[in-house]
Amino acid sequence: MSFNTFGHMFRVTTFGESHGPAIGCVVDGCPPGLRFTQEEIQAALDRRRPGQSRFTTQRREPDEVRIISGTLPHPEGGLMTTGTPVTMLIENVDQRSKDYAAIAGSYRPGHADYTYDAKYGIRDHRGGGRSSARETATRVAAGALAAKVLPGVTVRGALVRIGEIEIDRSRWDWAEVANNAFFCPDAETVPVWTDYLDGIRKSGSSVGAVVEIVAEDVPPGLGAPLYGKLDADLAAAFMGINAVKGVEIGEGFNAARLTGEQNADEMRRGNEGRPVFLSNHAGGVLGGISTGAPLVARFAVKPTSSILTPRQTVDKFGAETDISTKGRHDPCVGIRAVPVGEAMMWCVLADHVLRHRGQVGETPHWPANP
Ligand SMILES: Cc1cc2nc3c(=O)[nH]c(=O)nc-3n(C[C@H](O)[C@H](O)[C@H](O)COP(=O)(O)O)c2cc1C
Repeated sequence: MSFNTFGHMFRVTTFGESHGPAIGCVVDGCPPGLRFTQEEIQAALDRRRPGQSRFTTQRREPDEVRIISGTLPHPEGGLMTTGTPVTMLIENVDQRSKDYAAIAGSYRPGHADYTYDAKYGIRDHRGGGRSSARETATRVAAGALAAKVLPGVTVRGALVRIGEIEIDRSRWDWAEVANNAFFCPDAETVPVWTDYLDGIRKSGSSVGAVVEIVAEDVPPGLGAPLYGKLDADLAAAFMGINAVKGVEIGEGFNAARLTGEQNADEMRRGNEGRPVFLSNHAGGVLGGISTGAPLVARFAVKPTSSILTPRQTVDKFGAETDISTKGRHDPCVGIRAVPVGEAMMWCVLADHVLRHRGQVGETPHWPANP
């Protein structure tokens, strides 16, 4: 199975299966001398860890990270990168492979079971093998390291919709995101989602969600106008997260409803003569290059496919059968996709900063020389 690597200069290769002994990543191209701590990587992983509320899978994985290459102790504490590949390993400790024995020969609707067999002719039925979202833990570890390439930049994510219920954006409060089990920025929506998702969970069903990721203080100039567009790379990164079925940047699909007057972000002179944008319909990217305004992306996560209701399917011999998930069940995987989305934003930005430096140096070409 090829294609386990993403990024060009900040290159992340992930490995391992859901029910193997461990998963992990190798980050190649990380600049030397970046100071970080294992605790920082762990803190990022802890935000994605399963089993933290009744609304996420009860698989008990401590997700403890071990950093096994690419670092030296920093003279002032913690670690520093050496410029060689950084390998981070996370052991799987709560596999329960027997949960999958009964469905080993059948294709779960909404999962990659059939397509895996169609392509490779062999698959690990235990939790989906490589197609399991367990792999996303390794991206979160890589993202925490990527953040060190971008001091001064802030990346934050939030859940803005579960099923039919959207937050009220006028009540958006980033501080609220850490206070609830949903990464919800609107305190008043939390009890509404709680009741709604409890109903979904008790009925054995599932529901989709929308995640929003915002990066602030990104310098202007990252990205390239044609085949290295920042927005295209972000879209690929978010689309590459399990269960993601749509990505928007800025106004996204809503841009189709707007007029030119409504959509184009007007500019005025700001500090030190730099332009400021009076709005941000573009979501921080013009012509594939960052504008310096916040990068705003949203992605839609489909409802969890493993549900308790029996579904029609076929087995690997073509016989018709029914299938339903027993045991652990996650009513909305969009919740745990929030830290994964943040990590992908960090990785794409780290990659683009290094690509930018490689071609044009440290600073954007602004202000223009008269
Ligand atoms: C953090 C996260 C956790 C997930 N956990 C589950 C899960 O417990 N059950 C499930 O059916 N799908 C889960 N998924 C989604 C599946 O991995 C995904 O739908 C499946 O591999 C098919 O791939 P696709 O939806 O991208 O086409 C999860 C996705 C994410 C992002």
